[in-house]
Amino acid sequence: MYPAVRMRRLRTLKLIQETRLSADDLILPLFIDENIADKAPIESMPGQYRFSIERALKEVSEAHSLGIKSVLLFGIPTRKDETGSEAFNKEGVIQRAVRALKKEFKDLVVITDLCLCEYTTHGHCGLIEDGTVLNDPTLTILEKVAVSQAEAGADIVAPSGMMDGMVKAIRHSLDQHGFADTAIMSYAAKYNSALYGPFRDAADSGFKFGDRSGYQMDFHNAREALREVELDISEGADIVMVKPAIFYLDIIAKVRARFDVPLAAYNVSGEYAMLKAAAESGYLNGEETLIECLTAIKRAGADLIITYSAKEAAAILIR
Ligand code: PBG
Ligand code: ZN
Repeated sequence: MYPAVRMRRLRTLKLIQETRLSADDLILPLFIDENIADKAPIESMPGQYRFSIERALKEVSEAHSLGIKSVLLFGIPTRKDETGSEAFNKEGVIQRAVRALKKEFKDLVVITDLCLCEYTTHGHCGLIEDGTVLNDPTLTILEKVAVSQAEAGADIVAPSGMMDGMVKAIRHSLDQHGFADTAIMSYAAKYNSALYGPFRDAADSGFKFGDRSGYQMDFHNAREALREVELDISEGADIVMVKPAIFYLDIIAKVRARFDVPLAAYNVSGEYAMLKAAAESGYLNGEETLIECLTAIKRAGADLIITYSAKEAAAILIR
């Protein structure tokens, strides 16, 4: 007697696939470097580059033709100071990059990282006093950066510094300045992770002393992430993010189960580097592992995935 239910009957039917990955889900992060003329390779992220504004247009055009409709911009300024004031310069690298991109690609969703670590000499995500990062005085600066990015044409600002009250402060200042339609994607549950190492090389945003444990989350905690997300939603976040992604699929699933806002997951630099290293050494099939990895992030509950592999994945998906 065979069992009445044979799970193998439908096993290979694409028709019943529960999760479908598409280029529409992917956001491509780009490092825009004011100090270079063309592009410069990022050593710890093989295949990734920093771009000049001009060169970034070409990169986005390639991504666009593969079906990627959204980018997340990080700026590397020529001038840094104690307070990160270059982050709200009207002629700053990000402000100019946003204007150039929005002019050239009308339907491109431009998201700007909203933080100070790439703009401060000490590399922390906020103002410093006696070696600690101040919360409330940092909010005042973030408000100015948000308005300046919105003025340049950013569709979405993405505060990534894990300061308490940042979403409320930014929402308020955007509204006050006539940018009620500029959305906020909050890095709501951002863990203090070893997986950010390559990014800090890429964005020249490593800290000169201490660490980020005073503001980013302790990876031993999950319930705390739900409180962070709940707070950010109550402060007006339009999209919330969990970061990193693949060690944090449980967090993604929990947030998805509890809240009904769009959820983003950040497949971070260290995740990219691990996969690339294994693929380059021949230990893993890079393409297969990439698609399985991104599908898992989506299956866990993410609507959007920020990934350095966006172009590579999109190229595989349209084959
Ligand atoms: C800091 C910031 C970090 C990343 C994006 N913005 C991490 C950090 O330095 O703490 C990490 C992204 C990545 O690793 O890909 N605001
Ligand atoms: Zn930061």
